[in-house]
Amino acid sequence: SAEQRADALLRTMTLEEKAGQVSQQFMFGKYEEFAPVVRDAKVGSLLFVTDPAIINRLQKVAVEETRLKIPLIFGYDVIHGFRTIFPVPLANAASWDPKGVEGAQAVAAAEARSAGIHWAFSPMLDVARDPRWGRIVEGPGEDPFLASALARAQVRGFQGPAIGTPGHIIAGPKHFAGYAAADGGRDYDGVYLSDAQLYNVILPPFAAAVQAGAGNVMSAYMDLNDIPAVGDKWLLTDVLREQMGFGGWVVSDANGTKNQVTQHFARDEADAAVRSIAAGNDMEMSFGPAASASTLAASVRAGKLPEATLDRAVRRILVAKFKLGLFEHPFVDEAQARRTLADPAHRDAAERAAERSFVLLKNDGALPLSAGQHRRVAVIGASANSKRDMLGPWSFQYDLPETVTVFEGVRDRLGTAATVETAPGVQLKRNVPSMFESISIPGQAKPEPRWDTARSAREFDAAVALAKRSDLVILTLGEAEDMSGEGASRADLKLPGDQIKLFDAVMALGKPVVVVTMSERPLELGSVIERAPAVLHAWFGGTRGGTAIARTLFGDVNPGGKLPVTWPRSVGQVPIFYAHNTTHMPKDQGKRYWDIPSTPQFEFGYGLSYTRFEIGTPTLDTPTLMPGGKVTVTTSVTNTGDRVGDEVVQLYIHQRAGRASRPVRELKGFERVTLKPGETRTVFFTLDEKSVQYWNAAERGWVIDPGMFDLWVGSSSNAQTHGQFTVAGAARAGSGFAP
Ligand code: IFM
Repeated sequence: SAEQRADALLRTMTLEEKAGQVSQQFMFGKYEEFAPVVRDAKVGSLLFVTDPAIINRLQKVAVEETRLKIPLIFGYDVIHGFRTIFPVPLANAASWDPKGVEGAQAVAAAEARSAGIHWAFSPMLDVARDPRWGRIVEGPGEDPFLASALARAQVRGFQGPAIGTPGHIIAGPKHFAGYAAADGGRDYDGVYLSDAQLYNVILPPFAAAVQAGAGNVMSAYMDLNDIPAVGDKWLLTDVLREQMGFGGWVVSDANGTKNQVTQHFARDEADAAVRSIAAGNDMEMSFGPAASASTLAASVRAGKLPEATLDRAVRRILVAKFKLGLFEHPFVDEAQARRTLADPAHRDAAERAAERSFVLLKNDGALPLSAGQHRRVAVIGASANSKRDMLGPWSFQYDLPETVTVFEGVRDRLGTAATVETAPGVQLKRNVPSMFESISIPGQAKPEPRWDTARSAREFDAAVALAKRSDLVILTLGEAEDMSGEGASRADLKLPGDQIKLFDAVMALGKPVVVVTMSERPLELGSVIERAPAVLHAWFGGTRGGTAIARTLFGDVNPGGKLPVTWPRSVGQVPIFYAHNTTHMPKDQGKRYWDIPSTPQFEFGYGLSYTRFEIGTPTLDTPTLMPGGKVTVTTSVTNTGDRVGDEVVQLYIHQRAGRASRPVRELKGFERVTLKPGETRTVFFTLDEKSVQYWNAAERGWVIDPGMFDLWVGSSSNAQTHGQFTVAGAARAGSGFAP
């Protein structure tokens, strides 16, 4: 077995070789710089090498020129695609379609594996309730139930049925744990979360990923309740391994181990390396040489770290390498990689994924557009013809020329039926350089500079003039792709730059206007929502985003995505999420600011369609959930409009009384269905003890409270169709993270 082979190999390793095996280095430089590092067995893994030829050359050094011939494992940020870029993860979450997301990650895995990548630092499973936080774009949104479904799907997509399945790679859920709850939404800031919040909101998606067999987990950067996550034994060993049953290896975030010194937790790098490995963080990811490689052998000799603890980490890494089959097949076929990366079926899959991610926020009938009706069409906006923006953050291996912008998508969709022109109108600029601007990826052009003050007034006027001579304006509003992501939090959520001015100027012309919003987080859209006849939220759609947007605007497909996050009216409402507890004045729950409504702009689970749906009253096969039993909730959904369309039927529950106050609503089931006009589908949901259990602070454990529960089915978290059931029996223990 992989475990026996790892044990045998481990017995032959020197302390230095073990310390190298738990070290992982970024490779931004040349082969010549890294070959000696590999030859000296100073690393067990490299990240950010993506050229199959270089991967093969480095692997050759590892398996032919090192004493023990242990292959390298190559990791990479395969976040929403590799060569084919899929919609950003938050957009994928908006599809409420775990099967589709699984398929997307399977494509990403196939492409990455063909290039020689073995392991993805993905999926990001941080439940995020603060859209100021830039990395909200990379995750599953605000809800642990939806996030858990997406976690399972993505692990299956990346890994296939088992680690080592050809064409698949290891999944590395991250960032364990709590990262999204950074104070003030400021990236990397401290996180203070009660155990109840951790167990009930933050940890479940990770548990789901572990149960699905994820081979790796990445620890988080920040202090969780004053302990850097990378050095937190309770988190990485007691919770992750003992309670969740994780059996793979844990990697730090980049420089996470050494950062414990900067975070005033570890005394020096040697102390940092000891403390993270002792806590259960097995591999150190590092810019430059890892502290582990240079210090751990000495620390073991000095008695500061038991050799058995180092062995435990090395063994976990070796087991993964054996399971992947790297000892038998260390190299990739470069010609096959070229074919896989060019597969047109992958581009089509990305287009379908984009179509399924769009959320129709408003429509007073302006959408869908009719192709024959408009002869002169203007596609205006800073991102309207920006290929790089369409790809979103955390994409590097893309093919820029083949990426389709909104302008190109509309132009191609209309063909000779109309003249389609584009103008940016405004420029978007971040006030700090993106952390990725310094990274040069071979073969990729640097993004164009965004800002030229002299040009901006001319561009504004040119866009308004274009709108004036057109008989339809498609206006894109939102953010540039580098305005969210790592190190890209915002203090406000307004449309950046002069976009509102541009919107006002275009609206003043009295032309038909539809708005496409493109951003990676909810933005304050108040006046746009009030005044625009239609608003389609298109996130950042990836390689074929522009095609998918055009097909949606012109009614070839019907938008059916739903918000995976509550959309605030104002940044002052943040954090805002649907699963809050009630106050002692529930009737006033919606009036808790005097200057603005407390209700969000759009609730969690919201999204319109070009057709209409009716969701029936739920019926239950039994009114009582017995110990060990289940309740089947049945409802119907009918397409009462005149177009094919998708509805996401959602089930929410609420515990009326118990040993703790519980949220007003919690998602416990959902299903996306496609219905023809007039068609009805029956939808079934199963509630069992896991649906009603929660982690209770007073008991310090999982509990189930007997009593009355409400349930609602509907098309968003405001679902009105009500039912109820009773949980029978005495107060009892829950089953924890068990599946
Ligand atoms: O995987 C990422 C992580 O999410 C943030 N820091 C860098 C890592 C490697 O690129």
